[in-house]
Amino acid sequence: MSQVTNGSGETDTPDATAVANAVEGPEGDDSALRLRGRAFLLALYKALRSIKLYPMDNVQVRESLDELASTTSDIVTVDGGLEVRISSEILYVNAVRLRMDVDNFASFGHVIRAFSRAGVGMLLVDTPPGQQEWKTFVSHLLTFEPEEDNGQRLHEFQRLILERGVRNVIVGPRSEGDADLEDEAARKLAAKRTYQQSVSVTKELFESARMGRTPRLRHITRVVQSIVDQVLNNEVTMMGLSRLRGYDDYTYTNTVNVCIFSLAIGRRLGLSKSRLFDLGIAALLHDVGKSRVDVDLLVKPGDLTDAELSRMKAHTWLGALCAFELRQFGEIPLRGMITAYEHHMKVDLSGYPKARRPRELSVYSKIVAVADAYNSATTARDHAEAKSPDVVLRELWEDPSYGHDPVLVKALINLLGIYPVGTCVILDTFEVGLVHAANSDSTHIDRPIVRILGDGTGQWLDDPPLVDLAVTESDGSFSRSIIKVTDPDRYLINVSDYFV
Ligand SMILES: [Fe+2]
Repeated sequence: MSQVTNGSGETDTPDATAVANAVEGPEGDDSALRLRGRAFLLALYKALRSIKLYPMDNVQVRESLDELASTTSDIVTVDGGLEVRISSEILYVNAVRLRMDVDNFASFGHVIRAFSRAGVGMLLVDTPPGQQEWKTFVSHLLTFEPEEDNGQRLHEFQRLILERGVRNVIVGPRSEGDADLEDEAARKLAAKRTYQQSVSVTKELFESARMGRTPRLRHITRVVQSIVDQVLNNEVTMMGLSRLRGYDDYTYTNTVNVCIFSLAIGRRLGLSKSRLFDLGIAALLHDVGKSRVDVDLLVKPGDLTDAELSRMKAHTWLGALCAFELRQFGEIPLRGMITAYEHHMKVDLSGYPKARRPRELSVYSKIVAVADAYNSATTARDHAEAKSPDVVLRELWEDPSYGHDPVLVKALINLLGIYPVGTCVILDTFEVGLVHAANSDSTHIDRPIVRILGDGTGQWLDDPPLVDLAVTESDGSFSRSIIKVTDPDRYLINVSDYFV
């Protein structure tokens, strides 16, 4: 087979893989995008090569970075953004598969290898970076050496480029189907990464709303898709992550947790994946109005005055306005608008804002309201101590003044069990444990799966086992039962250690 050289002088030798990868759909309407995608990848390849071979001030380096900046700009201008994905060694630009052929086999392969070294499976650009930002990104992609290959490569690379000022080139992992998620550690890591990304995207959303800027909706939709995937495939870990503390401030973590709980409730109700996505967007936007409320007021300890209370309550209609300002993005923000407005209304239409005429609350609003009530009450804040999860569930169920839809409260209880994930319990064997998951047998709602941390003699176990409290002895009696719920802090237990 003959050899050809690409534009940068490197020899391309096509082989069977190239031929196999050359199977691609018809060019059709995507042909122009395919050309732009190829131009971008070739420019990225040239930049990688020239920075490797020449000093930074060399004319070839400058020209390749110019080309990279202009091809990116072309795609963002025409297509509204750039997304490059690698899946099974095939490159996609804005969801269009690129043919790997004799002309670009070496260059595409080079880019894929450079991405893989840094654990990158996805690259996203909404605002075209300038030449300087591309220079920083490409040179770090080229020289990146992970400190140790412990599955944290991407995280390390993300942190590195962010520290060096790369803000407009977002990188992420390969999509779930391709990532090595078989073992539990990898699944936990993927869930944790999703959680961290969700908190930072929420922060970006709130800060944009506060500054009157348009947030990057693509980041929001991407992160909600990830949370939906994680809740569908990795629910126990996601629920455990909601017990994590120490991330930024309460508003952002509360929003992400409400999103997780809402999706888990929606899943129990049998919502389709696309409706779960809508629900996730609505949940992520529900408190966005708080970005327009004074920060001092949000964190003020003690009771609020009447005037302060009404400013705080205004976050509902302010949130609806924030979501309305995103209306150019179509229907999605409009659903968020309704949820932002309704999530503190009760089913009898008390609560706030005051309803002027009879209305049926959106089911998304009612789900978000239950998730918000549960998460807020179980989270310690400056002005409120955390209540034990089982106490909160009982209150929501038994006290009608909370005003939630009982069907949804029941769904939450079924989801969490009477003893939610992360609850610290004492058993009748005097063992101390953490609730790991609700029992899959719904007749045993009070008998969760528990991780035993300490045995009956007070010894802490090095390798804490999981036990099913529904297991019985030969005489039919249960082997273990919960006798009380306790505060994990009393035993110096960091709940999140057992979920991440
Ligand atoms: Fe709220």
